[in-house]
Amino acid sequence: MKKLTFTLLGLSMLAASCSNNQVSQNPEQRFVDSVVSKMTLQEKIGQLYQVSYTSKDDAIGMAKAGKIGSIINVVDPQAINEIQKAAVESSCGVPLIIGRDVIHGYKTIFPIPLGQAATFDTAIVRGGCHVAATEATSDGIRWTFSPMVDISQDPRWGRIAESYGEDPFLSSVMGAAAVRGYQGDKMNDPTSIAACTKHFAAYGASETGRDYNATFVPERELRNVYLPSFKAAVEAGSATMMSSFNDNDGVPSSGNTHILTEILRGEWGFDGFVVSDWNSIVDMANQGFCANGKEAGLIAIKAGTDMEMVSTCYIDNIEALIKEGKISEQLINERVKNVVRIKYRLGLFQNPYVETAQSVKYADAHLALAQKTAEESAILLKNNGILPLKSKKILLTGPMCDAPHDQLGTWIFDGEKSHTVTPLTALKDAGFDVVYIPTLEFSRDKNTASFAKAVAAAKSADAIVFIGGEESILSGEAHCLADINLKGAQNQLIEQLSKTGKPLVTVIMAGRPLTIGKQVDESGAVLYMFHPGTMGGPALANLLSGKAVPSGRTPATFPKSVGQIPAHYYINNTGRPYNGSEILMDDCEREAGQTSLGCTSFHMDLGFGPLFPFGYGLSYTEFEYSNLNISTPELGKADTLKISFTIKNTGDYDGVDVPQLYIRDLAGSITRPIKELKEFARVEIKKGESKNIIMKLPISRLAFCGLDYKTAVEPGDFKLWIAHDSELKNALESSFAVK
Ligand code: GLC
Repeated sequence: MKKLTFTLLGLSMLAASCSNNQVSQNPEQRFVDSVVSKMTLQEKIGQLYQVSYTSKDDAIGMAKAGKIGSIINVVDPQAINEIQKAAVESSCGVPLIIGRDVIHGYKTIFPIPLGQAATFDTAIVRGGCHVAATEATSDGIRWTFSPMVDISQDPRWGRIAESYGEDPFLSSVMGAAAVRGYQGDKMNDPTSIAACTKHFAAYGASETGRDYNATFVPERELRNVYLPSFKAAVEAGSATMMSSFNDNDGVPSSGNTHILTEILRGEWGFDGFVVSDWNSIVDMANQGFCANGKEAGLIAIKAGTDMEMVSTCYIDNIEALIKEGKISEQLINERVKNVVRIKYRLGLFQNPYVETAQSVKYADAHLALAQKTAEESAILLKNNGILPLKSKKILLTGPMCDAPHDQLGTWIFDGEKSHTVTPLTALKDAGFDVVYIPTLEFSRDKNTASFAKAVAAAKSADAIVFIGGEESILSGEAHCLADINLKGAQNQLIEQLSKTGKPLVTVIMAGRPLTIGKQVDESGAVLYMFHPGTMGGPALANLLSGKAVPSGRTPATFPKSVGQIPAHYYINNTGRPYNGSEILMDDCEREAGQTSLGCTSFHMDLGFGPLFPFGYGLSYTEFEYSNLNISTPELGKADTLKISFTIKNTGDYDGVDVPQLYIRDLAGSITRPIKELKEFARVEIKKGESKNIIMKLPISRLAFCGLDYKTAVEPGDFKLWIAHDSELKNALESSFAVK
């Protein structure tokens, strides 16, 4: 009876309170306002606290007392239902939102996001995220801390593994696809999961690639490079955002009003809620941005961080801060409404419980999609003709041949290595006559004792397949490297295998681009798979046998050396660009004249240019571009340029090509990159056939943050290329002007 009376009273108060302002016509807003109007201050503060699961009794106690709004890291559906019941039957009656890091699959594990980006296939990424949502919601999880759309130009940074790489456009379309895959057509569908786009913002620019380090990204670079992927995720409907650990230009993101309120809500119209990263609010004291947790809580709640993950600055201090007049209850109401709004959109008020009888995990269709994603993610970096393998009589060796845990990659909380199909198993199942000599047991292994045995076994094999790379622990959060060569004795083994003279296929499974130039030279073929997940083995078997044809493209530049980092492709030209006439260190005369080597932008010991550029990848066949036409050479800012061209498959295999559209703004109010990816496609073409392709370039896509800090399209002359990759070799070129 109490609740009913309170409800009637609440609604009449609501009507009264609305008498002097517009009663919301929006049923959602009316519901949200009504719920919050009935809550006590303590219950409101509870909604802004996310606790990490310790025990069911503790969780039930906190839920019953209205002390929490969310729980992270509980995955038992029965326990979730009991805890949820306590919340729903509590005095405030608001259901909990259950969160988990479902980063690249829940039980069925897909390639790490960097590998998913390598597919250049937004449809398959969306499908994989929907599979992840279907499996995670079957256990009662309705919120994932994904997609991570941080732009990363630095493979030393372990979290490049979780990103979609270095390019703002690729990260934008991949992040948007992930949001749509997680949230589905209707977020209140019980198989939908709220996305959490992270880490807002510029976290990928951590200095020296050392995680949690400070970043110094100026406003224009922030808006032109680091924010577009977040904006795209918001436009795709991302329900939540996560503030990042880094302080950018001295301001930690969890306390950054400019990005959390002025940009995210003011400019982009975001109406979901922002959750801090783990302890990132209280960490602001460590960063020297405030004196203690109370000040941290005050800064964060005012800046725009709605919910606090794990640290207790909010629940410990908000009531006092209101009493001290430092914040208003009205501000808290707004923060709480953001949280309640997403719970409403998820349908949690109508349907807070999970059906526990579901068995969707590892469904055949899920495994098949994971395998197809792994096949599409594989990048053929080199092939002197030995792939696809002509003979099935192979020597197999290397630390990743049979590494069911490491093959899954980083951020695997719920995937099970017992379900991993490794290359060793898959190659045998595919009918390969495999001589397997384990040699190195793991990627850091320095034990060379069994190398001679492998070299001897090569004699009776028709080809050698070395599978190496990185253990999963070598990438991901806080797992950064100052040297990105292959670890352990892998390079020595590759060198010895190469000296046998047998065809050597080197397969790398890693969480980042690695500096493998010498190993590429020593191998007849190199296939790169960013940790390919549960079905990486069968995917590799299909690729080596030719049942599948590689189509992956590099989502991040592969530098020749760590000394080249950042090595991304969209660089400024400089006033003295590299021109190829430079004299390198080894060719330099003794006592050479000061200016005799060429005064341009290059490294004397390495020259200029990466090991492999962004967007690069080979196939078993070849593709030629011709007949480039553009719809008009002069356009207005609201127009769309149509680009048409022909692709011919001139090789011996059916295959998939990934033509890429790059533009260059020849002169702007600020210096502009020498090229920027603005569109791409995946095109299946049978051998000997041709296809006419049309791409559309909305001129609005050329907007950038200019000298006046306004984001707009500037008139001027542009070049465009239809290219195989960002190096633009054999690219078709044209030009146009914007008036
Ligand atoms: C971690 C990560 C973040 C993750 C969160 C919850 O520290 O930075 O990406 O989602 O905490 O596990």
